[in-house]
Amino acid sequence: MALSTQLHVVTGKGGTGKTTVAAALAMSLAGQGKKVLLCEVEGRQGIAQLFDVPPLPYEERRIAVGLGGGEVFALAIDPEAALLEYLAMYYRLGRAGKALDKFGIIDFATTIAPGVRDVLLTGKVYEAARRKDGNRFTYDAVIMDAPPTGRITRFLNVNAEVAGLAKVGPIRRQADSIMEMMRSAQTWVHLVTVLEEMPVQETIDGIAELTSARLPVGHVILNLVRPPVLTASTRDALAAGSLKTASVAKALAGAGLDEAAAPALIAGGAAHLERQRLQDSQREILDACGRPLVELPLLTDGVDLGALFELAERLEALP
Ligand SMILES: Nc1ncnc2c1ncn2[C@@H]1O[C@H](COP(=O)(O)OP(=O)(O)OP(=O)(O)O)[C@@H](O)[C@H]1O
Ligand SMILES: [Mg+2]
Repeated sequence: MALSTQLHVVTGKGGTGKTTVAAALAMSLAGQGKKVLLCEVEGRQGIAQLFDVPPLPYEERRIAVGLGGGEVFALAIDPEAALLEYLAMYYRLGRAGKALDKFGIIDFATTIAPGVRDVLLTGKVYEAARRKDGNRFTYDAVIMDAPPTGRITRFLNVNAEVAGLAKVGPIRRQADSIMEMMRSAQTWVHLVTVLEEMPVQETIDGIAELTSARLPVGHVILNLVRPPVLTASTRDALAAGSLKTASVAKALAGAGLDEAAAPALIAGGAAHLERQRLQDSQREILDACGRPLVELPLLTDGVDLGALFELAERLEALP
């Protein structure tokens, strides 16, 4: 059991693989025998889809087991349920809390006032990360499939705003405790990106924003990386424009293949080469930002449970 629960926040531009990476990281830690809570805060049910289980309720459910006694629990944090839970806990408003629903107050708090929504979501993550069974923390690690890069700093920092509003009292203390956890040595904000210009720029901007808000940046995870498939000599010939259609056609025919495919094959090779160059230049840009990088390959058969195990192995380097 950990001395204190680790918090891994996984952000990134939309569609770059946040949910996939968060799940793979959960599997990786469970593979090391850890008890992990994987939670999502965007109401997308992405985790349930990925693990092929029914939609997650507002309740921690075990969805996978790892080697050496490791386990992955999952939770879809719903701001309305979190608010009712909060009211029940702090004001003992069990049924009365539900009555607020009738007056649209819950709706107001969770959708109309977006800051309140983020306070509730981060509050629940804090609760899970600080929960204890006896004198041990319930989870070794909490992993959050988080909002995208453009919103992450504001999201994680929302309790600093609350602390600025509430000068004293229990709300101030709670807000301070959450910010203390967010900025602690047990928290990491990992950024997932693909090796393309726009997402890489967004990643660099995201790192700068997180850093200026004193939030701890973890690894940069390069996802959907296309492995090089050409031999060095083919690459050189393509680059020099010296790969002739006739010789490729001859090689195809020699292998019993359709020689008419030669021009398309050469064009495909050139496009692949161009992509590799682009990947290399974007990787160099990220290298210069000084954060540790981890690469995950583009898996051509999509992401199923087996693929998650494969990706999990590559994430073992994370703390
Ligand atoms: N390494 C990979 N190889 C192949 N497919 C991948 C890989 N990583 C992610 N995908 C696929 O890419 C798509 C987007 O991934 P994912 O849902 O994890 O991204 P996301 O950042 O969570 O997206 P959103 O912003 O919509 O929440 C999914 O279909 C997923 O299966
Ligand atoms: Mg997602």
